[in-house]
Amino acid sequence: MEVIKVKNYNEMSKKAAEYIISKVRSSNRIHLGLATGGTPLGLYKYMVLDFHKNKTDYRHVTSFNLDEYVGLSEENPNSYHYYMKENLFSHINILDSNVHLPDGNGVSLQKECVQYDKLIKECGGIDVQVLGIGQNGHIGFNEPGTSFGTKTHVVKLTESTRQANKHFFNHMDEVPTHAITMGIQSIMNSREILLLASGIEKSAAMHKLLHGDLNEQFPASILQLHPNVTVIADLQSLSSQ
Ligand code: GLP
Repeated sequence: MEVIKVKNYNEMSKKAAEYIISKVRSSNRIHLGLATGGTPLGLYKYMVLDFHKNKTDYRHVTSFNLDEYVGLSEENPNSYHYYMKENLFSHINILDSNVHLPDGNGVSLQKECVQYDKLIKECGGIDVQVLGIGQNGHIGFNEPGTSFGTKTHVVKLTESTRQANKHFFNHMDEVPTHAITMGIQSIMNSREILLLASGIEKSAAMHKLLHGDLNEQFPASILQLHPNVTVIADLQSLSSQ
């Protein structure tokens, strides 16, 4: 695992954007795995700025998002569909047909999970997967205790994750109880992983990620086994090292 230490959130976002943009620019076909949450917002902001300034082309980019809440419509401002459109997709020239997120509103969620993995596989897999990390070590919405062998699946969110995400909602009752997430195995199948972390509230999780044991109670620990992980983390998030 290569760890790039940066000063703060802004530096993390800039570095991450440089990283992704250089991959996009140097390939003629690339599959990006994208994440939501507070952490990658700055990355997307810098990608948008670069698009306006340097005209980086995204027509050859295909994206797969990690997860989506169950039961929120795409127009709901708290859905990850809305988040991605708002913060990235509507500002760059990625083609609508190349953008993929799990559908948390399908008639059969189980079918949707199988379809999502199938689609990723048929496209040839993910080249670079962007990840944040939950305070309890979750990646995507793979909560502690999730088997390392999981593919895309439906999860019941833990209370701590619902609490951590509640600031995006008006009221705790509105925070969904379930989500669809790429599984741990689906994430590990990516050729490369870029994990971002910022802030003191991530410091315990970052300590476990970098120094802890491999343990299904701490889902991110699986990344210790991935051959190509880059971590861009700020000083606060690394303060427990
Ligand atoms: C959320 C998302 C994850 C995200 C993580 C951290 O619940 N499902 O994909 O990486 O938790 O979120 P944040 O970046 O807001 O701290």
